[in-house]
Amino acid sequence: MIGALEELQKQAEAEINRAKTEEEILAIKTKYLGRKGLLTHLLRNIKELSPDERPGFGKRSNEVKEALSEQIENSIKEKASQKKSKALICEKIDVTLPGRGVKHGRVHPVVQVLEEICRIFMKLGFSTVEGPEIELDYYNFEALNIPKNHPARDMQDTFYIEENIVLRTHTSPVQVRIMEKHRPPVRILSPGRVYRPDSDITHTPMFHQIEGLLVDRGVTFGDLKGALTTFIKQFFGDATALRFRPSFFPFTEPSAEVDIQCVMCHGAGCRVCGHSGWLEILGAGMVDPEVFKNVGYDAEEFTGFAFGLGLERIAMLKYGITDIRLFFENDWRFLEQF
Ligand code: DAH
Repeated sequence: MIGALEELQKQAEAEINRAKTEEEILAIKTKYLGRKGLLTHLLRNIKELSPDERPGFGKRSNEVKEALSEQIENSIKEKASQKKSKALICEKIDVTLPGRGVKHGRVHPVVQVLEEICRIFMKLGFSTVEGPEIELDYYNFEALNIPKNHPARDMQDTFYIEENIVLRTHTSPVQVRIMEKHRPPVRILSPGRVYRPDSDITHTPMFHQIEGLLVDRGVTFGDLKGALTTFIKQFFGDATALRFRPSFFPFTEPSAEVDIQCVMCHGAGCRVCGHSGWLEILGAGMVDPEVFKNVGYDAEEFTGFAFGLGLERIAMLKYGITDIRLFFENDWRFLEQF
């Protein structure tokens, strides 16, 4: 049995020498010295020895146990200090290096424009509401007096999800949703994403619009002109010339488009304004009685105006940006200019 003891010691020492990590050493400790370890097991067999062999074996076992414990503890210390010096080398930092600046995010130019428009209309008593981007055909078209197969649907190319479900092509459906739920007076602004399958330097498949709606007793086209003129002067500057041009939208009658004098050439004519001196910035009109009928408003009692505009377009005009796609590339060098 003494032979087995010597053998065990040799084997354990070899394993300790080979071990590379603290975890390996701890496993060796358990393997030999643990409660169910090999050395412990050997010691239990002491009763098989003759009485005069026992003291010698007992003494030797204790020596082996102590020797192994010591080697194991030393090895653990050594591994820990190796780990520490390795960390000190790997994690070394040069505190004399210049720091790297923290880049601050900024409010996206489209959101800046949105916030400014909301601020102006809030002073006129409008409050902001939202509507769904995945919309029923009914709200996007039919309730706005654009029946199925009506040529007016061609004004807006549409992403269909199902036959009667679309990605909204404009924010106008929010008008209907609000009027269905609230009696006049109504005075809301509704910003949000809209979708149309278009892509070139002035169109992206997703863009943003803001819709305005005001309904009450005795609202006139004069009120519409007043509100929009106030908005344009505050947004583009007091000196900005504007004009209302007759137009057509199925959900307003009469309808108008509003132009401002070209922000690039101030009316002289240039490439941006197609040499007309004017830039179209929004659509508007008096809510069509047909729309009132769809939401259960009495068109004899109430009148109202509505308008809608594209935020990217406004931002492009305000900041002189010629390619709409820049808004969606998230290039820091572009975004940091605003
Ligand atoms: N929804 C129209 C579009 O996307 C814009 C518009 C025109 C909205 C006239 C209105 C409006 O509220 O009265 O082209």
